[in-house]
Amino acid sequence: MIQRRHLLALPGLALLLRKMTLSPANAATGKLEKIAILGHGEVGGSFGRIWADRGHKIIYGVRDTNDPTVQAVVHDTGHGATATTQKEAAQQGDIVMLAIPARVIVEVVKSLGDLSGKVLITPANAYNLSMKGGYPFTFGRPSFGEQIQDAVPTAKVVTAFNSIRPEILNLPEVPGGAKSKPLSGGKSTALSYGPVSVAICGDDQEAKARVSALVVDAGLEPADMGPTSVGGFVEGLTALFVAYRTQQNGGKYTETGAGIEWYLTKVPN
Ligand SMILES: NC(=O)c1ccc[n+]([C@@H]2O[C@H](COP(=O)([O-])OP(=O)(O)OC[C@H]3O[C@@H](n4cnc5c(N)ncnc54)[C@H](OP(=O)(O)O)[C@@H]3O)[C@@H](O)[C@H]2O)c1
Repeated sequence: MIQRRHLLALPGLALLLRKMTLSPANAATGKLEKIAILGHGEVGGSFGRIWADRGHKIIYGVRDTNDPTVQAVVHDTGHGATATTQKEAAQQGDIVMLAIPARVIVEVVKSLGDLSGKVLITPANAYNLSMKGGYPFTFGRPSFGEQIQDAVPTAKVVTAFNSIRPEILNLPEVPGGAKSKPLSGGKSTALSYGPVSVAICGDDQEAKARVSALVVDAGLEPADMGPTSVGGFVEGLTALFVAYRTQQNGGKYTETGAGIEWYLTKVPN
């Protein structure tokens, strides 16, 4: 019998199957969610676009609603997406994706008002690009997921998407769509080798199930790594990728140049 992994090894077939699976007719695996996305950068703008396309309601939470790049991202997202302040978006959303820099994430979460019962997704990574002083966010301190859960105990924190470069979504590039750089165009080949797994962790099973449905809606595959306490490992994965590229490029991190396209992939039993 031909196994799924053999089929997925055929060049191009996995991509084709994925495109068929994600046709609008099959949109949204779970219930349609109201998702607040704080930050309209690479991660926020990319996942906002794909989830809106799958039927979810997207509310961007931004610092300046008049920023032309915000308007561009809202326009490119379409499907009734809106933008408002970070606090207002978080209040409107049932799921809040914190697509903002790690260095401010805990403080921002504390400024959002009552988040009781909401699912908070943190993709924050445990490194800083300069690598000065080593890996200050990685070792010897609680993960961002743990810090956020401590700050808002009544919310349900799920660590997810940390090791996923937005290129994996193979979205069309939107020149000037993001503040600092264009939103990623489709450059990744990883999906042609089979489903890419998204490491997730958190203490609330129902919250993880809802985030897992969003993972599938993005054309990826959830891999539940366990409770919030394993967040340091999930957040540390990207630090390894950055370390390699830094090492290969004369001690300075660059977005291009020698690197590895690295993703988790499940293997069958
Ligand atoms: N890029 C990746 O490949 C990648 C992959 C996985 C995970 N991540 C993680 O995902 C998060 C977002 O990454 P990104 O690459 O999307 O970042 P980004 O492109 O730099 O965008 C970050 C967004 O955060 C907002 N922001 C910036 N400074 C802020 C502040 N002081 N307070 C509140 N909001 C602020 C900005 O939105 P406004 O101007 O609208 O406020 C900006 O659009 C980070 O934690 C990163 O570690 C990134």
